Amino acid sequence: MRKAKDKITKLFDEREIAIRVEELARAIADRLPSDFVIVGLLVGSFVFVADLVRALQRLGCDPVVEFMRLSSYGRGRVSSRNVRLLAEPNLDLGGRAVLLVDDIVDTGRTIDYACGLLRNKGASNIFTCALVDKPSRREVAMDLDFVGFTIPNVFIVGYGIDYAHAYRHLPFIGVIE
Ligand code: IMP
Ligand code: MG
Repeated sequence: MRKAKDKITKLFDEREIAIRVEELARAIADRLPSDFVIVGLLVGSFVFVADLVRALQRLGCDPVVEFMRLSSYGRGRVSSRNVRLLAEPNLDLGGRAVLLVDDIVDTGRTIDYACGLLRNKGASNIFTCALVDKPSRREVAMDLDFVGFTIPNVFIVGYGIDYAHAYRHLPFIGVIE
């Protein structure tokens, strides 16, 4: 549970994140077809998606943007390993190229579940993008197409990423102790 005064140590500041998002947008624009759909995973990806779509727009891309909501963590720091679908994308994905975007990939269970769901909905080609990857924690084999930052096994918050619903509004990413 969140304490009144959690200690948060800055890991990536606003400038570092902005530079990395621009680089990711360039890599995505180079690789994806022009008419792709972005599906962001709520809630954690909302800040990242907001910055990413505007970086893509500056590069001449016009993606359609949708979200889906999955839940695995609840209020703790350890994944429940039990991914639940809370809201699915409200869009026809039949034959479309989809860029699935999440804040963090940890065990890989959430993004693996999301990929399966998008495949069932008819997406022709699914690309995965995570702002942060924690490969040392992986339990489900998953090769991500686009990764912003690779980090060791620490618990982070900020830039959309929460701890027990707090800290999503921080403009930087920090490690919480
Ligand atoms: P996975 O299913 O284990 O890959 O978990 C992915 C989800 O867990 C992400 O979408 C995050 O919401 C959450 N998560 C994983 N690591 C962290 C962290 O360090 N801070 C906050 N949330 C995290
Ligand atoms: Mg999440």
